[in-house]
Amino acid sequence: MLCGPRHLLWLCLPLLLAGTSGQLGASRPGAGAEEEDSGRGWPGVRGLREQLREATALSKRYLSLLSCRIWPGKCEEDAAASAQSQGWSLPLLGQQYLDILTTWYCTFQDCCDSGDCRISNNFSGLEADLKGRLHGQHLAGELVLRTVRGYLELPRPDKALVLSFHGWSGTGKNFVARMLAENLYRDGLNSDCVQVFIATLHFPHPKYVDLYKEKLADQIRKTQERCRQTLFIFDEAEKLHPGLLEALRPYLERQAPEARRANSRKTIILFLSNLGGKVVNEVVLNLLKAGWSREEITIEHLEPHLQAEIVASTDSGFGNSCMVKENLIDFFVPFLPLEYRHVRLCARDAFLGQELLYTEEALDEIAKMMTYVPKEEQLFSSQGCKSISQRINYFLP
Ligand SMILES: *[C@@H]1O[C@H](CO)[C@@H](O)[C@H](O)[C@H]1NC(C)=O
Repeated sequence: MLCGPRHLLWLCLPLLLAGTSGQLGASRPGAGAEEEDSGRGWPGVRGLREQLREATALSKRYLSLLSCRIWPGKCEEDAAASAQSQGWSLPLLGQQYLDILTTWYCTFQDCCDSGDCRISNNFSGLEADLKGRLHGQHLAGELVLRTVRGYLELPRPDKALVLSFHGWSGTGKNFVARMLAENLYRDGLNSDCVQVFIATLHFPHPKYVDLYKEKLADQIRKTQERCRQTLFIFDEAEKLHPGLLEALRPYLERQAPEARRANSRKTIILFLSNLGGKVVNEVVLNLLKAGWSREEITIEHLEPHLQAEIVASTDSGFGNSCMVKENLIDFFVPFLPLEYRHVRLCARDAFLGQELLYTEEALDEIAKMMTYVPKEEQLFSSQGCKSISQRINYFLP
């Protein structure tokens, strides 16, 4: 069964592409004149041969890109192939043909719903993860699920979706970013549609900001050429140079309708930072003290404070960037400080994750190892659920 459509593809691909190769960026205006001048062989034959060669080269490239989409585990070879054909970047038109080919191929064969097997968009998996494995973050959980699903279900969004995660360390920002990668892409964070940047690791020296900017723009462009749905994660966003954030601007601004018609890419950008963590904690503490339950806290309680705090934090590159000033961020997502009971749940998950038995006492012991603040109330774990999985080692038999 598998053989049939695959053969058909091999046969038809060059034919399909022969008609398009001229448009695909390889037109050579001088070629016709050159043939007549040379006066060798039959006029036109050389041109035809050239065209065929081009079409074959193109179709090989397409086939490798296509197989990368459809057959898992084939992309290793393709990486080598793309290195070989350096400088051959897939033009917009090519991307569309690839989409058409994928759809066409998938009518014969069980493919993935998305038409690109690297993209899984498992919203039920995402929902289950956010509800079951993320503790104490009802606001972030709901907001992320709603905005990401809403965005990815749009047929042609006119801009990237930009979410900025804020909260203390250990509250789950990285965890949620990983959940997104794992539920939206077959290969999770290792997917060639996902890129993670850590400010102090990837862009450590302010004096090289121009170089970083160029590299970043290049990497974003290349990732978008490979995938029509991409995810970019910027960790330690508070340490990003404002100039660097400029490189992202073209993706954040709305596109004109004509540009959108030609370009159905979807891009999600996440910024993860500790900025505003303090103000989130203060607001939550005050509400709890006033008798609210944690789950009654809404985004309206938090977002205005959070946004004001970030705009005011001009000493950080992030707060100072045009992105924040010009409202290019779609949502500020607050991560609440975690309480004792949440730390216990993290400890339980850590035992379960390693398929270990645990006792209620061990969970309490681990939760008690964390420091709780403020001094008086002792309500919030100052490290959230950070390094819980290392701490369970003390309790192993
Ligand atoms: C989505 O994720 C859930 C939970 O991880 C999993 O059970 C399910 O098989 C996934 N669905 C698809 C279509 O991959």
